Amino acid sequence: MTKTLDDLFYETLRDMFYAERKILRTLPKLAKAVNSDALREAFLHHRDETEGQVERIQRVFEIIDRPARGKTCDAIDGILEEGSEVMEDFKGNPALDAGLLAGAQAVEHYEISRYGTLIAWANQMRLAEAPDLLKETLEQEIKTDELLTKLAKKAINAAALSK
Ligand SMILES: [Fe+2]
Repeated sequence: MTKTLDDLFYETLRDMFYAERKILRTLPKLAKAVNSDALREAFLHHRDETEGQVERIQRVFEIIDRPARGKTCDAIDGILEEGSEVMEDFKGNPALDAGLLAGAQAVEHYEISRYGTLIAWANQMRLAEAPDLLKETLEQEIKTDELLTKLAKKAINAAALSK
């Protein structure tokens, strides 16, 4: 069977479907673990956004008329695993929030990269609606990343210094 951009797009979408659902389950755990109220709020707000992101991916599966089935994404598993390690290793320590914030930014950057690619491919494939749906999600990921940078600079990194 000849594999084309259609297959690449589908497989990458499955990968992100898995990733988003895993992120959806992880964000409440991160929110529970951090000390900063502002950071907790950012995680919970993004959890709510992620619900919509999962739904948008489901709509894209419908547009390409393929089954909405996730596929294990080793990249996101690895990034989230590192977050779990920080959670254990830094529990009760001033640097915990800075570590978890950095892990969340690694997740956002992975997603920004993937959605950028999916949008480019969806345009190339001349898919209706899909580029706009994916762009909506990409904007949320970018905004989340920017908010995390702001929180890190404003307080979280400084708090991590205190002994
Ligand atoms: Fe996301």
